[in-house]
Amino acid sequence: MSRLILVVDDEQEIRHSLSAVFEDEGHRVVSASDSASALEVLTRESPDVIFLDIWMSVGRGEKQQEGLDLLAKIKAQYPESVVVMMSGHGSIETAVKATKLGAYDFIEKPLSLEKVLVTLQNAFQLRDLSRENRNLRQRVARSKTMIGESAAMVALKAAIRRVASTNSWVLITGENGTGKELVAHTIHAMSSRFEKPFIEINCAAIPEELIESELFGHEKGSFTGATQLKRGKFDLANGGTLFLDEIADMSLKTQAKILRILQEQRFERVGGSQTIEVDVRVIAATNKNLEEEIKANRFREDLYYRLNVVPFRVPSLRERREDIPHLIQHYLKEFSVAGSAPKTMSQTALELFSNYTWPGNVRELKNTIERLVIFSDESEISLETVLGVVPGLAASQTKIVNNESVRDRSLKGARSEFEKDFIVRKLTENDWNVSRTAVALGIERSHLHKKMKNFGIEER
Ligand SMILES: Nc1ncnc2c1ncn2[C@@H]1O[C@H](COP(=O)(O)OP(=O)(O)OP(=O)(O)O)[C@@H](O)[C@H]1O
Ligand SMILES: [Mg+2]
Repeated sequence: MSRLILVVDDEQEIRHSLSAVFEDEGHRVVSASDSASALEVLTRESPDVIFLDIWMSVGRGEKQQEGLDLLAKIKAQYPESVVVMMSGHGSIETAVKATKLGAYDFIEKPLSLEKVLVTLQNAFQLRDLSRENRNLRQRVARSKTMIGESAAMVALKAAIRRVASTNSWVLITGENGTGKELVAHTIHAMSSRFEKPFIEINCAAIPEELIESELFGHEKGSFTGATQLKRGKFDLANGGTLFLDEIADMSLKTQAKILRILQEQRFERVGGSQTIEVDVRVIAATNKNLEEEIKANRFREDLYYRLNVVPFRVPSLRERREDIPHLIQHYLKEFSVAGSAPKTMSQTALELFSNYTWPGNVRELKNTIERLVIFSDESEISLETVLGVVPGLAASQTKIVNNESVRDRSLKGARSEFEKDFIVRKLTENDWNVSRTAVALGIERSHLHKKMKNFGIEER
């Protein structure tokens, strides 16, 4: 399979000989003689492997470790790129530096043909694996889908994809039940940290005096009751993502402590002297307006700025009503009894759902559907059932009158819709036996038949 290789070296001879070797192997090669042109190439090409010289002369001056700076830039912009560093002054120190910056391998000059080709093959392998991995990750992420095709959700999903591949810290705001935790999970699942832990801390739930031990852990015997060494959440999240939920509900004292660790990514366990270093990506969430909390002196401004590297606002369900029918369908399916077809919802019930204010957002909608699936024995959930099972929605029904679609409908139209719903419900209750249903409704069998025909209700 033909691949694309980028060679970056200030010496023309090296560029030529490497290009010749790679082209002989059947690959396509682009080369660049300095950082600027290399970065320029990367804006239009995505090479499978990059061979990058460490020491390059900048302008006409002396040779500098220009390659390391370029490596850092490449890894920041294209984290998945596979970079092999080359150097004639192969000190361990530089090699370590390069590895820390994300270089895949390090080869010494003068280059040996054999070593170059072996490194190339390994680099290809890594490239394939990481691609496969990314596909897998995307598939996993899709299974925990965020439902919603509204403009607001499409924008949110695009932002999640963009931020997932970086290491940026994220602050998620949004009302109760809008999906803040789901967003945090999705970012983690789509990031390169996906195999590492996702650790959640509910800041509102931890008592003030336990917070240090909870976050940093404690040494055995450090206080009464500390019978064992306990690892803190920061420890547990090492390499992965730490989700600080309900961030606005911490005391100012705790906020100060958190800020220090977030800045240093280092801490000591309670009662311990050893300093523990961690690499943790922080995602925080709150349903409060942090700007207001800051004004009221309940939230530290410096902590806000530290966390708010990339802000995310999850829109309320009211702002994206067009997603409601999709969510309903999704949850009708999720809660359906295994082996049976998912229930559906009548048009009038759907309208009620679409017009309700949903103060509890997606969580409230999800719980409502679950309840309806359990309590209704109809295959199509009717408005009547919804009103019976979910009193909150019933109370909101007066609001519907203000809605265009219902207001503009005649009384006759509304009545016949209700009638249709009612007939379907009774038919369902009577196993679709028309005679029995007619008796239950107190009308003639022929009359019921006629109505069914008029309403387009088919016998089952
Ligand atoms: N877009 C969505 N698609 C599918 N399910 C969703 C979506 N948004 C939220 N949910 C579901 O709604 C429920 C509530 O979401 P989540 O816990 O993420 O909200 P939250 O904003 O963290 O709420 P709170 O403010 O109460 O902590 C979860 O079961 C979640 O899976
Ligand atoms: Mg939450």
